[in-house]
Amino acid sequence: MKKIIIAIDGYSSSGKSTMARDLAKKIGYVYVDSGAMYRAVTLYALRHGIISESGIDTEALVNALPDIRISFEPAGADGIQHTLLNGEDVEREIRDMQVSSKVSSVAEIPEVRQRLTALQQEYGEHKGIVMDGRDIGTTVFPHAEMKVFVDASPEERARRRVRELEAKGEKVTYGEVLENIRHRDFLDTTRKESPLCKAADAVVLDNDRMTIAEQMQWLLDLYHKTAD
Ligand code: DC
Repeated sequence: MKKIIIAIDGYSSSGKSTMARDLAKKIGYVYVDSGAMYRAVTLYALRHGIISESGIDTEALVNALPDIRISFEPAGADGIQHTLLNGEDVEREIRDMQVSSKVSSVAEIPEVRQRLTALQQEYGEHKGIVMDGRDIGTTVFPHAEMKVFVDASPEERARRRVRELEAKGEKVTYGEVLENIRHRDFLDTTRKESPLCKAADAVVLDNDRMTIAEQMQWLLDLYHKTAD
């Protein structure tokens, strides 16, 4: 069986990170969460006052890029890969609301995208990788052997996100979560640089009415068809 690159793109809260991580584990591939990299850059900018009430100081962020080192620590006891920012484990912090509310604006900056794209491409040099994000099949690995575009309705994604947040003890309403998802979809699909869109050769996975187990079987079937 040949080693391939698997690109999984899709809307926020479509479940793509979980499925990408589980698939990588099942087939012994490296998993890279490209969204975590955009989140780590955002956290750095927040901590260094590059993002403030008045907005993002783009020039300062671009100048700081050489000082931002992002790496991943393999999954430990919790089964989750941890994101490191200049050697510090920031996995929890990059998921908080402050980072979530600013990351789309950071992800719009062309220099940030160029730097993270180059880093992501280095991870793929030896193949045997599953990477999820918004532009993996279109910009990062346009020649990936297997490309999946995950689609689910905003309503279903909002219901899942509410369940996730409630499980973490956060108080949210379905309406505000749905609104946030619609807003992020808008930003992701309309930004100038590498907007979220389906690669022409990507296969659509509409997981509105699929269980986790059904999704995994769907992915494994496609993987075997592609790599065998
Ligand atoms: O998948 P996520 O929600 O963790 O992604 C965080 C943000 O980063 C989201 O606003 C979209 C952006 N992103 C991107 O622009 N390109 C990627 N390849 C991955 C994420």
